[in-house]
Amino acid sequence: MYTELYPDYASIVDEIKGVIISSLEGAKPKILDSCCGSGFISKDLALAGLNMDFADKNPAFGASFIADLNAQLGTNKKIIKASWDQYSKEPLLPENHYNFVMCRGNSFIYASGDINSDFYPDSVGARQRYVASLRGMYGVMQSGGFLYLDKYKDEEEPFECTVGYELSSGKDIVWYCHRKPDLQYREASIGLADDPGVYMHYCDDLDEALLQSCAQKVGFQFRKITLKHEKNFAVYLLQKP
Ligand SMILES: C[S@@+](CC[C@H](N)C(=O)[O-])C[C@H]1O[C@@H](n2cnc3c(N)ncnc32)[C@H](O)[C@@H]1O
Repeated sequence: MYTELYPDYASIVDEIKGVIISSLEGAKPKILDSCCGSGFISKDLALAGLNMDFADKNPAFGASFIADLNAQLGTNKKIIKASWDQYSKEPLLPENHYNFVMCRGNSFIYASGDINSDFYPDSVGARQRYVASLRGMYGVMQSGGFLYLDKYKDEEEPFECTVGYELSSGKDIVWYCHRKPDLQYREASIGLADDPGVYMHYCDDLDEALLQSCAQKVGFQFRKITLKHEKNFAVYLLQKP
């Protein structure tokens, strides 16, 4: 269960809320969760009163959380179907708009490949896709805004994880990431547990140095932060100057 990774779930939600509020120094939050999946953390940030928009390449993962959130808040929020690297090509999301963008849950590694496709590891291509994805996120951010991004820790090799968590509908979302010691890439998959197939793809091995160089190429200021309640992933707070 996902909750096993975050036994003190309320505290990590509170801590991320604190990061958002303190980074914004009094500015009114305009937050985008760029890969909301099944709403982990960000649904609760919205319930805590933060102004959240939701996007994901696969909005189906979030159908039940968004319905539940709308019922609780009396809103009509939708999950915008959008892939990070496409933000600038289609007017899916407003440019220069958000002051806080979230890309959490070890999701950014999926930029290197393509869910539902047979992607073979190709470091040059992967680097281009990381840059294109960061550029997409940069484009929807206000100057001075922050991108919260996390990933498995460099020192965790091999990293292996299979998790799911129950949504209010009873469905589980599962993801899996695995690196065999002799491989230069990770295998990752994600899907709904009751789907006949899990979407499989390969991802290039993203270490912190590569992430930093891609972020700086796009123009972000790069900073790593430590969260007391985030024991699973390394967290980066990238600022658009
Ligand atoms: C592990 S889930 C993360 C869910 C949630 N953000 C969390 O913190 O647990 C990864 C999500 O990233 C989404 N995703 C993968 N590639 C994407 C892309 N290129 N653009 C936008 N979303 C993407 C997937 O559809 C999936 O919902």
